[in-house]
Amino acid sequence: MRESRRRREIQDYYLGISADEITSHLTPASFDLWESVARYQRELQLGARWLEVGGGTGDLAAAALERGYDVLMTDVEVTLLDMAARRHPKLQTRLQHADLFDPDDLGAVAARGPFSIVTAVGAVLNHARDRRALVRGFEHLVALGDTSSLIVVDLMLSEMFPGHPPSVWADFLHVLPGLDMLARLIRSSGLLVLEAHSLYHRYSPTSTFDQEFDERMLRLFFHKSPAAGARVARREAGARPPAPCPGGRPLP
Ligand SMILES: C[S@@+](CC[C@H](N)C(=O)[O-])C[C@H]1O[C@@H](n2cnc3c(N)ncnc32)[C@H](O)[C@@H]1O
Repeated sequence: MRESRRRREIQDYYLGISADEITSHLTPASFDLWESVARYQRELQLGARWLEVGGGTGDLAAAALERGYDVLMTDVEVTLLDMAARRHPKLQTRLQHADLFDPDDLGAVAARGPFSIVTAVGAVLNHARDRRALVRGFEHLVALGDTSSLIVVDLMLSEMFPGHPPSVWADFLHVLPGLDMLARLIRSSGLLVLEAHSLYHRYSPTSTFDQEFDERMLRLFFHKSPAAGARVARREAGARPPAPCPGGRPLP
């Protein structure tokens, strides 16, 4: 019930705005996504298989394809996948319907891997139903990356907005994690942070929202490596049960 409401909200929102508003591809940035990806591909000796999660109208996926990457794009919204196929016919065989937060969809996407580059840009992860789902979505992204892979994630963080709000869109279900949660996600995944950039975009009023809206998010480049896996395994093996509380009472 709640899930179908979330889907409808995503559909109502994304189908009510223009393609240029959906894509993060046009967001001005102080760094070049393509240069960074190409550099890490070279330095980390990664393959060309690129998974673009929540690809929307496909502009970013199509640009990656143009640059020689072997792209698979997913989205939860079938109408957007159809739009991507119409805008970019070369993507037609490279589109898959999948919900990032759904464990059942994970296997179907993984079966088309392994992927050397995994991107979930344009705040896809913020579309989680709640914090638990956001953690699951992040874990899915990490799981979809090959043993050594580049993972690029955009996240709107609560601390990037005045007053640290828990949400910023009144009409649209989403989660704004804080830096503390991001730190926990990075630590538990064992990922190495390669780069972090602040993205900022001011949207003009639209037919659905009559004021300007400031969108702020962090773009993070991570390296998933065999060493990261080993770090997590070592930490888990070393985890001891909590020490007994004095007097048998729980510590405050
Ligand atoms: C702001 S758009 C970003 C599009 C594209 N990644 C880009 O940066 O140009 C966010 C996209 O996330 C998709 N999305 C929302 N929830 C999703 C989910 N659970 N699984 C996969 N995609 C999702 C939306 O349908 C939308 O296409």
